[in-house]
Amino acid sequence: MFDKLCRSGTLTRVGYIAAHTLPSFRTLKKYRNLLLAAYSANRRLPIIRNNPVVVRLAPAAVCNYRCLFCEVHKDDVLFPNRSQNLMTLEDVKNYESFLSTAYSVWFYGGSAEPLLSPHFGEIAKYLKSKYNMKLSVNTNGSPLSHALCDALVDSGFDYILLSYHAATREMYKHLMTGDVERVDKNIEYLNRRKAEKRAKKPVVDLSIALHRMNAQEALPVLDKAKTFHVRAVNVSKYYGGRNKLQDKDVSFEYDVEAGNKLLDEIYTYGKQQGIRVLPKTPCYWLARPAAMAWNPENYNRSGECLHPWTRLDFDPVLDEENCHYVCVCNRISLFKIRYRECKVDSPERFDKLWNHPLLQYMRTTVNGDGLNPMCIFCRNYDLGTLRNLDAAKYAELRDTAVRSFFEEFRSKYQYEEIRGLEVLRENPYSEESFQQRLTSRKFYKRSSG
Ligand SMILES: C[S@@+](CC[C@H](N)C(=O)[O-])C[C@H]1O[C@@H](n2cnc3c(N)ncnc32)[C@H](O)[C@@H]1O
Ligand code: SF4
Repeated sequence: MFDKLCRSGTLTRVGYIAAHTLPSFRTLKKYRNLLLAAYSANRRLPIIRNNPVVVRLAPAAVCNYRCLFCEVHKDDVLFPNRSQNLMTLEDVKNYESFLSTAYSVWFYGGSAEPLLSPHFGEIAKYLKSKYNMKLSVNTNGSPLSHALCDALVDSGFDYILLSYHAATREMYKHLMTGDVERVDKNIEYLNRRKAEKRAKKPVVDLSIALHRMNAQEALPVLDKAKTFHVRAVNVSKYYGGRNKLQDKDVSFEYDVEAGNKLLDEIYTYGKQQGIRVLPKTPCYWLARPAAMAWNPENYNRSGECLHPWTRLDFDPVLDEENCHYVCVCNRISLFKIRYRECKVDSPERFDKLWNHPLLQYMRTTVNGDGLNPMCIFCRNYDLGTLRNLDAAKYAELRDTAVRSFFEEFRSKYQYEEIRGLEVLRENPYSEESFQQRLTSRKFYKRSSG
């Protein structure tokens, strides 16, 4: 709907005029901002007057699980003494100038568990009562204590996407390293609290990313969804990476036929049992040659990306306290913000970040002719398959694209240093630093053993 609006020159013009007649009342601000964002995105403006529509925020940088499929393992190698970055309500208030106008705020990011922030309930209550934006969280569900469930139900928190990649006790323990019975008890309590308060929210979905190791778990996950009356099961595909499954060829890219058969079974079973499965229609694997040939020219030249006008992500930093990486998509971190040093708590102060030359460069080179190196990489049709079949090559190409992106930016734009806001030069989790770390660990083990 919003994307459609952004594509219409006339509608965005009407919206722009309407936005100026809307009162800037706390809970209405987000609609005004939505209309202004559609106008900026439609006109491809490099300097914009709207704020981000969707903000993703990591309120913690640590996790209590070590899921085999997660890049938490790479992060453990790179940052063995990782920082915690547990945000307080005061820290969140530094971001209030743009959180207050966001249509939705998602709590998650990287290899971290958002609900480990001891201040999560307080933060949710504050934002919801003051601005009533849509609040969502992606969680493993284990930290959903009674007190936290009470806070989420009482504040009207909107949505919980619960990672549930296996249903049986043994497989959950193996794959996600946690206790599924504890998570189930948490969901049961949340349901009881919702019933007591006659509350419909938070809406809960289960999420499973399919691969060859958890194929047998998919239907049991649907059974759990029925038992717990969750709204839907989100079915996605496992993607490869520097995790504990990388050498085990678990991706269905290696057996597309079996993957697609499993998808059919899931959707048929969901229909029979009255369980909603998302996306509405199966997203099948496409047949590919077993050996990947990477063609850098095979990219989508006509697609449109709206992220630099509409989205801002604050992702976990693992080597320093009170910091976030700031980005507009998952492919590249743009800045490191030291949020207790760099104040962005007023529209004027936030403007330094949101209309920084780096974001202007992004907005100018994300669509049409003259795409920047990162977007060319992101738009390559073979990217998903390469990631699953050759993690090292994928990482190497991504790191090169990141480096070229920053080099091109620095060659074309000038910018002033801002205290507490660092413009990056490369991927902080690069393959090169990962390999160096692995080698020095092996060397250390050999020389000390
Ligand atoms: C990185 S987690 C962070 C939030 C939280 N700790 C959780 O697990 O829900 C965000 C989502 O990415 C999923 N994920 C992690 N690694 C994945 C992979 N290799 N393939 C597919 N999904 C993955 C997780 O299961 C989770 O649903
Ligand atoms: S719970 Fe989430 S962040 Fe933690 S290890 Fe599992 S997928 Fe990664």
